Amino acid sequence: MRIAASLLGADFLHLAEETRKAENAGIAILHLDQMDGHFVPNISFGPDTVSAFRSITDRFLDVHLMLSEPMRYIERYAAAGANLITVHYEAENPLESLKLIHKLGLPAGLSIKPATQIEEILPLLPYTELVLVMTVEPGFGGQPIHPDCIAKIAALKDFILREKLPVLLEADGGIKESNAARLAAAGLDIAVMGTGVFRSKDLSKTVSVIENKEAFTPFWLKKPEL
Ligand code: DX5
Ligand code: ZN
Repeated sequence: MRIAASLLGADFLHLAEETRKAENAGIAILHLDQMDGHFVPNISFGPDTVSAFRSITDRFLDVHLMLSEPMRYIERYAAAGANLITVHYEAENPLESLKLIHKLGLPAGLSIKPATQIEEILPLLPYTELVLVMTVEPGFGGQPIHPDCIAKIAALKDFILREKLPVLLEADGGIKESNAARLAAAGLDIAVMGTGVFRSKDLSKTVSVIENKEAFTPFWLKKPEL
């Protein structure tokens, strides 16, 4: 399992230093939450923020769109330097959004909220490189994990392996050193962690406990040194 550091959990007055902290701990993926105040009851970053991160890091930028109308913004996020763009199944036009992300030359992720059943998204799996299972209601960092979501990850992993689909599994929300092993055992590939990374008292230890760099080599994570 690899960690994606969610900058929503960072100190907003020191985002460059927080980025360095994640990089120095060996974290290869930075997760950037985009919210519109409509799909979720909060507002976070925008395309210009993604562009600002792009200018200070060569790490993989994993952009999570919690937007009701992702089609309106996908091109701007691609131009801002996103390396992967994830849209929500519950938002407008999920299939068209995945196709547009591919047309722009990027891998595409599909995310589901805790109440969405996996059967609903199975027909869309051939159009995605990653499924992001929300393990909390999207919108805010620092919430406790919904333990039911772990069974969802295990069921999705079974399906992906059975159908031999090139799809990675990512989970987002409430992931900590104390529950990461259960998620890894369920077949999780990428653990998004905000509080768990940026409030860690010993980040190198957190990374060494959770990360297993040999566990997978996503074809889209281009830089072999990461
Ligand atoms: C929640 C966001 C998460 C958030 C996770 O809507 O999508 O990425 O930063 O934060 P923690 O790890 O603190 O639960
Ligand atoms: Zn997220």
